[in-house]
Amino acid sequence: MSSLPYQDSSLPIEERVSDLVSRMTIEEKTDQLIQIVMGLDENPNNAGQGSFRPTVGSILASKRGAAAHNEYQRIAVEETRLGIPIIWGYDVIHGCYTVYPVSLAQACSFNPELVEAAARVAAEEALAAGLNWTFAPMIDVCRDPRWGRIVEGYGEDPYLNGVFGAATVRGFQTDDLSKPEAIAACLKHFVGYGASEGGRDYTYTDVSRHALWESYLPPYEMGVRAGAATIMSSFNDISGTPAVVNRYALTEILRERWGFSGFVVSDWASLQQLGPQGFSNDPAVQTKAGLEAGNDMDMADQVFRNIPQLVESGRLAEAVVDEAVRRVLRVKFRLGLFENPYFEEKAFSESFLLPEYKETAYRLALESCVLLKNDAEILPLDARSIALIGPGADDPAAMLGNWECFGRPEDVVTLRAALEGRAAGTIRYAKGCEFGGDDRSGFGEALAAAQDSEVVVLCLGEESLWSGENHSSASIELEPIQLALLEELRAAGKPIVLVLTAGRPLGLHEVEPKVHAILAAWQLGVTAGTAIADLLLGRANPCGKLSVTFPRTTGHIPSYYCEHRRARPDQGLYRGIETSPLFEFGHGLCYTTFDYGAITLDATTVAADGTITASVAVTNTGSRDGKETVIWYVRDPEASITQPIRRVIAFDKVSLTAGETRTVTLVIRPDEHLSYPDSDGKRILEAGTFVVEASGRCEAEFVLEG
Ligand code: GLC
Repeated sequence: MSSLPYQDSSLPIEERVSDLVSRMTIEEKTDQLIQIVMGLDENPNNAGQGSFRPTVGSILASKRGAAAHNEYQRIAVEETRLGIPIIWGYDVIHGCYTVYPVSLAQACSFNPELVEAAARVAAEEALAAGLNWTFAPMIDVCRDPRWGRIVEGYGEDPYLNGVFGAATVRGFQTDDLSKPEAIAACLKHFVGYGASEGGRDYTYTDVSRHALWESYLPPYEMGVRAGAATIMSSFNDISGTPAVVNRYALTEILRERWGFSGFVVSDWASLQQLGPQGFSNDPAVQTKAGLEAGNDMDMADQVFRNIPQLVESGRLAEAVVDEAVRRVLRVKFRLGLFENPYFEEKAFSESFLLPEYKETAYRLALESCVLLKNDAEILPLDARSIALIGPGADDPAAMLGNWECFGRPEDVVTLRAALEGRAAGTIRYAKGCEFGGDDRSGFGEALAAAQDSEVVVLCLGEESLWSGENHSSASIELEPIQLALLEELRAAGKPIVLVLTAGRPLGLHEVEPKVHAILAAWQLGVTAGTAIADLLLGRANPCGKLSVTFPRTTGHIPSYYCEHRRARPDQGLYRGIETSPLFEFGHGLCYTTFDYGAITLDATTVAADGTITASVAVTNTGSRDGKETVIWYVRDPEASITQPIRRVIAFDKVSLTAGETRTVTLVIRPDEHLSYPDSDGKRILEAGTFVVEASGRCEAEFVLEG
């Protein structure tokens, strides 16, 4: 029986929030704004001792499971004055136990529905593990593959990051956050973190307001519109004002412009890091500046314990604290935690790695792979004998990628295991070398395997922890030992199929001419080997398209499809090497061929408040069924604020049987598709000529009327 208004679920959430805040002491308010890391405290009866405090707002990084978390939650709900439930956070980025492809790979699927289904799997496993808040999706646009965290986002394009970020939010949260199967999502890292100088992590980001609005903010607006419950502010210093104290971003944009009503959590110790960043070493200043800018929660319990004395001394208005507390409580009420604070406790076999979960992971793995090269149609393999070589062929950990959550190597199917179970012929496996180092002792065995086989499948790339947070790389080329192994194998004179498993685009300028085929297989998770084997053997048809450009070399960075125009398009190129990317955004081959007809428009001009429809007929002209993604780009060749050469405005993925033709259409709405932001986010719509493109295969020009 509910005795107080905030405990009455029949009342509107805002009334319950107001009632509860009015009853809280400054100490209780302070604790609601703190997230503690419970890495050490194993005893639920340590209430108030050690790291566990039953009045904290949130607990992070606990892998204790539902039953243990329920024990702690019971203390918080039943043994504290107000009984405010704790929200349990963890980095469930690309799966929990059922680890599926990393986000950069997911975007190559151009299949938001499938990505949403995978996030739903992750949410169900997270709840079974006693977690109801995930620090995902990461939607930081990145155009520098030296930055290890490029793996965590959806690539170089703002629209793709927004579409897949929103799909992931829906997967985690469903359409109603109060549903028992929902967990709270967290858009991160707000904002501009992907512009980290030199690709080094935790650095300064020189991001103009214009660049913020053109490239880095759009995915967050789409994520907020999708209903994301929370947002994480980022580590980076945004052109002199670190994100965690950046009022323009956290309050003017997020709250005043976009109406975001959830809460913002700082990234790990980012408030305390304001010292090394040159803002302030004073925890009181860090606390005040963070709260007043709009950062509501202190991850890892760094400085917010200063709040009571800041308020008591008059340095911080309690109303500022109250607003932050309201936001945290609002999310907890929306999540239904006051009514359902406890997790269902089920057996491991009923909760994790279920067949249907792995089927979703497998389907996404298939659609995330990108066939970059396939000379002489060496793929799909029909060889009777395959030499399977390289450090990536039988390394389960390397398939999980960074942020593997509860993923376990023993649950991964490697390519070796899959091929040995599937291929009709002989598989000769030889590791050849490690991912790094200089041990060539395995070369001889690898060469012998190649000499005794018809084709070589060479698995190169990265260890899983070579990308991800705090894993920047000064070079995106393959490690010397891997390049040496490739050279060794060329002596066998057999066709080489390169399978790349990595968390970033790699510099393949020297490698590409030496291999017949290249499959970008990223880090696909527990079903990696099965998916790669089925693609290599032709049991499935590759359909992925690159979500990120492959620069030729490290020296070509940054290199991305939506660059701005050059004053001299044919000059300013690199001396002695081709300047263009090795593989462009949107590139991807398959085992059939698709023909595009001409784009037809239902008009040649469009009014600002009208629409114009573009149509293109796509035909599967090959002998196999396949999936093709029509990527719609728009070009705005003359504008008062210069525009990217082209930008993605939509995409359609269609399945076509051999010989089938499908007409794909796009309704262009000027406000949505032709306007652009100025340096304060105001949308500008200018009359003039525009060009719409379909997958770079065909285009049509039209005029937006004045
Ligand atoms: C890390 C990451 C962030 C993650 C958080 C909690 O430092 O920057 O992405 O969600 O801490 O683990």
